Amino acid sequence: MILVRNLELLGQGTQKLVYKHPSDTDKIIKIMKPEHATSNGGRKRQHHLRAHHSQGIYKQFRREILQYLQLCKNNYSLQRFTFPMETVYGFITTDKGLGLVTEKVIDPNGSTMTLYELSNTNLFNDTHAKALDKFFDECCELHVVLGEVNIAGIMYTEHRQGSPEFVLVDGIGEKLLIPFRAMSKTINSRNVRKIEAKIKSKIGYYSTKH
Ligand SMILES: Nc1ncnc2c1ncn2[C@@H]1O[C@H](COP(=O)(O)OP(=O)(O)OP(=O)(O)O)[C@@H](O)[C@H]1O
Ligand SMILES: [Mg+2]
Repeated sequence: MILVRNLELLGQGTQKLVYKHPSDTDKIIKIMKPEHATSNGGRKRQHHLRAHHSQGIYKQFRREILQYLQLCKNNYSLQRFTFPMETVYGFITTDKGLGLVTEKVIDPNGSTMTLYELSNTNLFNDTHAKALDKFFDECCELHVVLGEVNIAGIMYTEHRQGSPEFVLVDGIGEKLLIPFRAMSKTINSRNVRKIEAKIKSKIGYYSTKH
């Protein structure tokens, strides 16, 4: 079992801690913050019936894995395994719970760069804008379901497939109780475009000359 204190923290949000994989430089380990978990794996501060619903604190992992499997299934004959969401590799056990092992998305300098950081530092330019358009188009075409996507959960890279691209690393998969978005590509595309508009409204580049 991996001891989390021996890992190097790469990033974190409100729900997860993200660490470098100890032996695989191109992978990361995602852990649900233990302070949000009850002793039996439910989600704290939620009604007890809801907290234990659908794998409790691991619910996000479940959504992400299901989405990845669905994309692999849809593209079975193409043998395509790379999509606009981070590639999921599997699990690793830690002293802070189950870790989800995924691809590490890095920018051209070898560090991590979220869309939020690009926008916040005014580095966002025409190349990024083109890549962002492509990202949302691909989410529609490939039928990637976006849940609670925010500007810090989309990362930029040029290494992954040899050209500028954005990759979704958080808020992946169906959140609705009745999975309308997963069932219908049309309904899903409508949601993707709605999120696209919301995200672009938060980026200065679009409110100036573009
Ligand atoms: N695949 C990845 N490759 C590189 N860095 C990553 C990756 N996934 C996450 N990170 C880094 O870790 C941070 C937190 O990850 P993530 O968004 O999954 O956490 P979260 O707790 O769900 O966030 P939020 O509070 O926005 O819901 C990201 O903003 C990013 O800096
Ligand atoms: Mg999140």
